[in-house]
Amino acid sequence: MNTSSSANAKGANNQDSAKRGMWSSRLAFILAATGSAVGLGNIWKFPYITGENGGGAFVLVYLLCIAAVGLPIMMAEVLIGRRGGHSPVKSVRLITEHDRANPAWRWMAAVAVLAAFLILSFYSVIGGWAMSYVGTAATGQLAGQSADQIGAIFTDLLGSPVSLLLWHTVFMALVMLVVAKGVRFGIERAVTILMPALFVLLLLLVGYAMTTGFFGQAVAFLFQPDFSKLTTAGVLIALGHAFFTLSLGMAIMMAYGSYLPKNVSIAKTSIAVSVMDTGVALLAGLAIFPIVFANGLEPGAGPGLIFQTLPLAFGQMPMGSLFGTLFFVLLVFAAWTSGISLLEPLVEWLEERKGMNRMVSTLSAGIACWALGIASILSLNLWSGFAPLGMFSMFEGKTIFDLLDFFTANILLPLGGLLVAVFAGWIMSREALERELAMSPGAFSLWYRVLRYFAPVAVAVVFIYNLIA
Ligand code: PFF
Repeated sequence: MNTSSSANAKGANNQDSAKRGMWSSRLAFILAATGSAVGLGNIWKFPYITGENGGGAFVLVYLLCIAAVGLPIMMAEVLIGRRGGHSPVKSVRLITEHDRANPAWRWMAAVAVLAAFLILSFYSVIGGWAMSYVGTAATGQLAGQSADQIGAIFTDLLGSPVSLLLWHTVFMALVMLVVAKGVRFGIERAVTILMPALFVLLLLLVGYAMTTGFFGQAVAFLFQPDFSKLTTAGVLIALGHAFFTLSLGMAIMMAYGSYLPKNVSIAKTSIAVSVMDTGVALLAGLAIFPIVFANGLEPGAGPGLIFQTLPLAFGQMPMGSLFGTLFFVLLVFAAWTSGISLLEPLVEWLEERKGMNRMVSTLSAGIACWALGIASILSLNLWSGFAPLGMFSMFEGKTIFDLLDFFTANILLPLGGLLVAVFAGWIMSREALERELAMSPGAFSLWYRVLRYFAPVAVAVVFIYNLIA
């Protein structure tokens, strides 16, 4: 691909981009983007929302959302980032100037940066749960425990604001540490080793789950659709989760795409990331549900699901303390690489906009996010009865934590994704899209149609239906 002749929005800023650093290879981008995509969403959230929404039919809708909405939008997001070559907000602004579009589009990126910030505030709290379980597993506390005893460990953790705050603080500090070091030397190094290790360990756990005698039941639960169990709210949750799990609608793929060398195929790269992300989620489901059924646990147990099922398995299997420790270490790493990606857009924006250096911008963004996280921590115990929007029936009983999760995953992310689709599909010049994607004409026109018509309409319909229903 010819970079010098492509009149991209970066214009005279090539030197600048050299200074910003680039991923050292296509693989590095894939790993970093996968590091962002694969996280608590796959291992913690996917199994529990699948359990809450009745299994197979939900999984099917989720897979459709990934393939028909998520993937095309991911390609659009990476493309916008690479073409703009700067932080999401600036990239969008440069593109609007170049393509003579309304400058108000830059707000799209600003909303996305805000969404990432809000998500990180509670994501870090859950990352903290995972950290605390590293210690629990390593000290042998899971060995031979009953389901009730394991459940009590989880309840005790949530009931203790001090422990939660401690772990949340450690998690945020780790995220800030890497972000402060910059893309190439921080993020890239961390993910190259950790992602493959996580994959291998999950395979091992699936192997263990096969020995429980309930593997077939779990496969049926996950893959035999029973549409009577699917609700319209479930469809919205599946769509929102497709965005969440692929890290879309939050300008993250834009930010990472801005470091992607021009000669790398956006389509192939995005497919690789989506396939790995989906693979990890399904493997997590296959590891968890056999244990749920074997122990007579409730698939719809909610956010505590993995913290109550997997520890049971670790308590019973040979060398369980070792595997348990390893598993939670890797879960922390998966959450960590995602957390890094959630902080990156805001930091990049502060650097560019406010002229702060990387250290100061990381500290400011990180500390603000940490402080907001305290509200989520308190929602789990002292403020568990506090539902700030409880006067509206749809928010009845929802704590601040629940509201942040609901508002980001079900509203901001689909909205962000919708805007990306409209921006790339209807506002940007088609010629620039063709140049960035460099695909065969047939593949391009399929993608372009999906992006212009199918994806926005699907998101809008599901979204509006749920608002009025
Ligand atoms: N995709 C991550 C996960 O599934 O855990 C979470 C996440 C990371 C969401 C980055 C959004 C994001 F921008």
